[in-house]
Amino acid sequence: MQVLRTVDEARGALAPVRRAGRSVGCVPTMGALHEGHLSLLRRAREECDVVVLTIFVNPTQFAPGEDLARYPRRERDDLVLAAREGVDFVFAPTAEEMYPAGALTTVRVAELTEGLCGPHRPGHFEGVATVVAKLLNIATPDRAYFGEKDYQQLQVIRRMAWDLNLPVAIVGCPTVREADGLALSSRNAFLSPEERRAAPALHRALRRAAEMVAGGGTAAEAEAAVRTALAAEPGFQLQYAEARRPETLRRDDTPGPPMVIAAAAYLGGTRLIDNVIVEKDPSG
Ligand code: PAF
Repeated sequence: MQVLRTVDEARGALAPVRRAGRSVGCVPTMGALHEGHLSLLRRAREECDVVVLTIFVNPTQFAPGEDLARYPRRERDDLVLAAREGVDFVFAPTAEEMYPAGALTTVRVAELTEGLCGPHRPGHFEGVATVVAKLLNIATPDRAYFGEKDYQQLQVIRRMAWDLNLPVAIVGCPTVREADGLALSSRNAFLSPEERRAAPALHRALRRAAEMVAGGGTAAEAEAAVRTALAAEPGFQLQYAEARRPETLRRDDTPGPPMVIAAAAYLGGTRLIDNVIVEKDPSG
């Protein structure tokens, strides 16, 4: 496994791979790898000849006052895990390498970024779309893998790749959860033992709302169910609960699936997000 620090090194390492006609799978991450990331690496390993992991804590996607400084950084452990998963290349640049002074271009995806996390994290999706466009241009993968836990991010990246004609398939992969339902996240490390015990209430609330939608409930009913369930949970401060159509992220008052029900909540100082997707019954 080769660790690449600069754009030139990454291009130099990947050019012969491309010339040899080998397929490249890329898993962009901010490090602090957990089983969720490893599931993406395994999928890339299964589907591609060469696997590139990127590790970059992207400063431009943290809104002012967010947890950039305390975001976990564990590169040494990450490299051990990556080697174990059969990763071929790790691209782990510095912020100066990714953002040399004087850059004037950013990527902003309209509409899809307006609801859900968008209003609560000003500039976040512009930071994500810009860095992912850059990483995909550097790694030039055939396929790039992202978790469904960040569902809005996944849709934003899909749309960005489509709108910019990037020659890459964006592959969404299922959320990996603890046995009690808590979605894996690098930020779970910030939870105190008591908060950790309380945390699965978020997923339970979303699942109950999903059952309502599967039974013909509306978006408004699903959102109210999440709000009511979390209001009864000590320690939770709900930021939003929204039910949208999965493809467009538009609000639609027609009852029933398909729907994604997503929520963000603070538990103490830690922001948790999660979602549940209710598919349309193919038989109905
Ligand atoms: O999901 C993440 O870890 C990040 O938002 C991403 C996609 C690697 C961009 O920095």
